[in-house]
Amino acid sequence: MPLIAVATWKFGLGACRETYRNLAAGASALDAVEKGVRVTEEDLDAASVGLGGRPNADGIVELDAAVMCGPGRRYGAVAGIRDIGEAISVARLVMEKTPHNLLVGEGARQFAVEQGFKPRWLLTEHRRLEWEEWKRSRGESESSHDTVCVLALDGAGGLCAGTSTSGIAYKLPGRVGDTPLVGCGLYCDQLAGAAAATGPGEVIMRYVVSFRIVEEMRRGAPPHEACLSALGWIASENPRTGEQPLIGVIALNPSGEWGAAGSQPGFPVAIATSGGTELIEAVV
Ligand code: GLY
Repeated sequence: MPLIAVATWKFGLGACRETYRNLAAGASALDAVEKGVRVTEEDLDAASVGLGGRPNADGIVELDAAVMCGPGRRYGAVAGIRDIGEAISVARLVMEKTPHNLLVGEGARQFAVEQGFKPRWLLTEHRRLEWEEWKRSRGESESSHDTVCVLALDGAGGLCAGTSTSGIAYKLPGRVGDTPLVGCGLYCDQLAGAAAATGPGEVIMRYVVSFRIVEEMRRGAPPHEACLSALGWIASENPRTGEQPLIGVIALNPSGEWGAAGSQPGFPVAIATSGGTELIEAVV
């Protein structure tokens, strides 16, 4: 089985490399994806993920994350979690240690603390100053809602998808995007494939984008075509999509074929295989 990891955005390069490094060492896709996403969650330069992510309108960082595994169609997620930077790991524990799929807000935080995670202040000084400036100007935030999404195929043929983000900068407290929502920010079916999405969650969730891509692959579409088909559907119903922040999608099928597409130019995707890791501009 060819090992492969696919991740969104340039800031996903480190996540992609780490995911592949773990796959090559024999890790399951789930273990590899969790370790990969953690790299971006700890990256202070990733302004929309984990520690160092942009805060909500009250100046508090609230994170969304999810993981979904092909074998057993297992899924776990957290939304609006505060003070815990390792959101992907908490999402995994929701999947493994609770009878539930999704924990939100204070309940998610309490669960994380019970599981041994140490609360920490996630707003860095740099992001606090940006937020102060936003409050003064109340201008449109130029930041996007870039989610780190990672898909992986392991040596046993297992597929996994993971996602993590701090969401839209300066969002209303309590706002949840597509990232933690099954079928929207991610989906994974062992027989059909895995997919994930990045961009404006309010659009992505209304079109259940990741589920749509996986179902296209189930019907036999190659991953690239499945990605283009989902974005084409959104564009056909919503001609103003091009004026909105870019939507980017990635997909991986059980044979290790991958695909990616963006609603506009400017969506880089990281791919790691036995041939190395590269950053590729997704098709539009
Ligand atoms: N796609 C991430 C978000 O809208 O929060």
